[in-house]
Amino acid sequence: MANIYTLRAFFSGQWSSTARLEGKTVIITGANTGIGKETAKDLAKRGARIILACRDVEKAETALKEIIDESGNQSIVVRKLDLSDTKSIKEFADVIKKEESQVNILINNAGVMMCPYSKTADGFEMQFGVNHLGHFLLTFLLLDLIKRSAPARIINVSSMAHSWGTIQFEDINSEQHYHSRRAYGQSKLANILSTRSLANRLKGSGVNVYVVHPGVVRTELKRHMNIPLLIMWKVVRPFTKTIVQGAQTSIYCAVEPTLDTQSGEYYSNCAPASCSRAARDDDVAEKLWDLSCQMLGITWE
Ligand SMILES: NC(=O)c1ccc[n+]([C@@H]2O[C@H](COP(=O)([O-])OP(=O)(O)OC[C@H]3O[C@@H](n4cnc5c(N)ncnc54)[C@H](OP(=O)(O)O)[C@@H]3O)[C@@H](O)[C@H]2O)c1
Repeated sequence: MANIYTLRAFFSGQWSSTARLEGKTVIITGANTGIGKETAKDLAKRGARIILACRDVEKAETALKEIIDESGNQSIVVRKLDLSDTKSIKEFADVIKKEESQVNILINNAGVMMCPYSKTADGFEMQFGVNHLGHFLLTFLLLDLIKRSAPARIINVSSMAHSWGTIQFEDINSEQHYHSRRAYGQSKLANILSTRSLANRLKGSGVNVYVVHPGVVRTELKRHMNIPLLIMWKVVRPFTKTIVQGAQTSIYCAVEPTLDTQSGEYYSNCAPASCSRAARDDDVAEKLWDLSCQMLGITWE
């Protein structure tokens, strides 16, 4: 009879590939811990230049040493990025455009889950502001460079939790009513919808976009969970993924050559997966796109 370890391995979508990334430059947001750090480690071992885009620079420097030690790759740097502040995002993009001649892979990985109600420096609800709007602006600011670096890939890290929420157009910043789980769901649904819209806009550009559910992974993400949810977490823990397993689908989307012909799709366990019906609604995706541009004061050609 299959034990829990066999079952976990079955569901983990472990994936291996000898693909190399010499000559490629990768940006990973939230790479000082969890899935982002593990993704950085793997891509560093494949020979890519890695930019760890992190809010906590001290923690990122510790991660940097660990990644260099394990990969032997010296071409790894830390650059400051706080996705809860558009000023920091603009400064980060300016630094990258000044320092880097190319960006071949952008992994929008950073995230915050179910935090108490708070707002970003620009007055956006924190989860929508960091998980969706922060990455939307970052992608917008780097896109010309990414296009010039084609073939290139953008990977947005979403979640199966996208089905917990809807896009609350009438109260996008949850000012009238805040439910931390639904707000996380809204931000992760926005990741999928904006991936679809971006893929449509990038047709023929040589830049492909993918959106990922990493699985339920043992990281620090659960830091804001309440006690009942933490008890539930302990019960399901044997069926959750290790951080190495949780990074596999991001790595797959960054590296797998057969994905060159795909764009705009949702992946889990290193394979295409189905997302909710709400996440496939192109009218809502376009409405969200316009609202995101308006909130950020940007015009996307
Ligand atoms: N773990 C899971 O089960 C799971 C499931 C589905 C989806 N995901 C998604 O996977 C991604 C990675 O999460 P994880 O599980 O690895 O969580 P984690 O260990 O908590 O890592 C989250 C990362 O995001 C960074 N971050 C948070 N707010 C930021 C901000 N304002 N600016 C810049 N960086 C910020 C954190 O930086 P600090 O160190 O500065 O806080 C940290 O590096 C997230 O998008 C998450 O939604 C995770």
